[in-house]
Amino acid sequence: MTKTQIWTSAFLAIFIILFFLQRATMKEDTVVVNEPSENYEPAPTQQATGSTGAELVQSFGCYSCHGSDLKGTNLAPGLIGLADYYDRDKLINYLRNPNSFMDQDRFVEFKQKYRNIVMPAYNNKDVKDLGKVADYLLELK
Ligand code: HEC
Repeated sequence: MTKTQIWTSAFLAIFIILFFLQRATMKEDTVVVNEPSENYEPAPTQQATGSTGAELVQSFGCYSCHGSDLKGTNLAPGLIGLADYYDRDKLINYLRNPNSFMDQDRFVEFKQKYRNIVMPAYNNKDVKDLGKVADYLLELK
């Protein structure tokens, strides 16, 4: 081998080694990112507000999708007569995590009807407030 060939091979070898080293460390980084960090804190829950259920329904923005009379719009279904389907606990659970209900027939239908709209999860709200919202909604007939 000439000197040039030796140098070229040496450089190539270094590049290959660096390439694999970089890949190896990249993987490590990804693992670290996915590990729950020690000082992980869940999103803070809002303080209970002391408002009535009706006021909360307004301030949480439910009207913007469900309509100012909660009878439904082309964005979201009406919320009248929910007592046929929900008790208080179930409704609170729904508001906190609507996704966990999506396999039920009614929701399969909703998904088709309100294609691009997603019912937001209100899991950052105080449960007492969600209880008031539930009480208010369950009264609507
Ligand atoms: C961004 C629009 C949007 C907002 C804001 C919104 N919703 Fe909804 N909601 C929906 C949609 C769309 C559905 C139908 C289910 C689905 O497709 O996710 C739904 C479904 C529901 C249901 C289930 C109805 C049933 O017949 O089972 C309840 C209860 C409900 N919403 C209550 C509320 C309350 C209470 C608020 C306010 C705290 C609220 N929603 C805010 C869009 C919205």
